[in-house]
Amino acid sequence: MNKQKVFLDCDPGHDDAINIMLAHAYPELELVGISVVAGNQTIEKTTINALNVCQYLGIMDVPVAAGCGNAMVKPREICPEIHGKTGLDGPTFEPLVKKADPRHGVQLMIDTLMAAEDHEIMVVPTGPLTNVAMAIRMEPRIIQKIKRIVLMGGSYQNGNVTPAAEFNIHCDPEAAYVVFTSGVPITMVGLDVTRKVLCYPEIVDRMAKIDNKASHLFVDLMRFFNKTQKEVFGWEGGPTHDPVTCASIIDPELLTTKFCHVSVDIKSEESYGRTNADIFEFFRRGEPNCDVAVDINVERFWDIIEQGIRYYGDK
Ligand code: RIB
Ligand code: CA
Repeated sequence: MNKQKVFLDCDPGHDDAINIMLAHAYPELELVGISVVAGNQTIEKTTINALNVCQYLGIMDVPVAAGCGNAMVKPREICPEIHGKTGLDGPTFEPLVKKADPRHGVQLMIDTLMAAEDHEIMVVPTGPLTNVAMAIRMEPRIIQKIKRIVLMGGSYQNGNVTPAAEFNIHCDPEAAYVVFTSGVPITMVGLDVTRKVLCYPEIVDRMAKIDNKASHLFVDLMRFFNKTQKEVFGWEGGPTHDPVTCASIIDPELLTTKFCHVSVDIKSEESYGRTNADIFEFFRRGEPNCDVAVDINVERFWDIIEQGIRYYGDK
């Protein structure tokens, strides 16, 4: 089977952790590296979280490297209200043995991509885009090495940290601007679809019944995530944002997308960090540069999550 190589860039983060679980589970995918970025928590905490998740799931041979701890321009923002003091409150882990790769996360991304064939690797960012933008600026030749960037971020409707902007983009709008103007094929998995995959308690119970190490992690993560999502947004089930990225690579039919122009607002105050998607092709703001997710097969998504968890039964 021809495995699709994926390189994750993440800020674990409860939903990032589930995306790591998916990327390692499916035989169709080959997880080749993980760079970590500040976002949900500080870079120190998100790196420890990424290492803990990998160690817990037995992902010991995939390099994990700490990347940027601050955005290009704006002051750092973190999100303990949703992800807790550690950035991954809920599960407990054994003492950490897995070591971070000594390289900077941006360097790991560049080295991994430059060692690949052209258009071979899918880069899957699920946090602020600082590492990806820095890599593009440091080594522009990686652009031709990337098959597609499948990112969780943005929305063509409203945001979640301001009425206009989604967290990953809002954390580093200038980095997002670099990525969206890079010319790399992009799939934007925004809040428009991730808010349709709400992890209701019955979903948690469904995954708990699998009763293996991945299901225990899923349950511990999502019970905490649901608690904070209810406190902050009043939702009964938390939107399971990040795993929609790898799920859409596992099943290319999962998402309905619209190829259109997307620009990142780095100028205004009110809408700073907004992804302006011309999905009606009405504004003619520029050439299409992004496949924007506009719908998702929710039932299929949860089946992908369930099968991903089941794959750990044999690991
Ligand atoms: O807005 C949701 C995104 O911000 C998710 O990636 C979540 O993990 C946080 O990074
Ligand atoms: Ca994330």
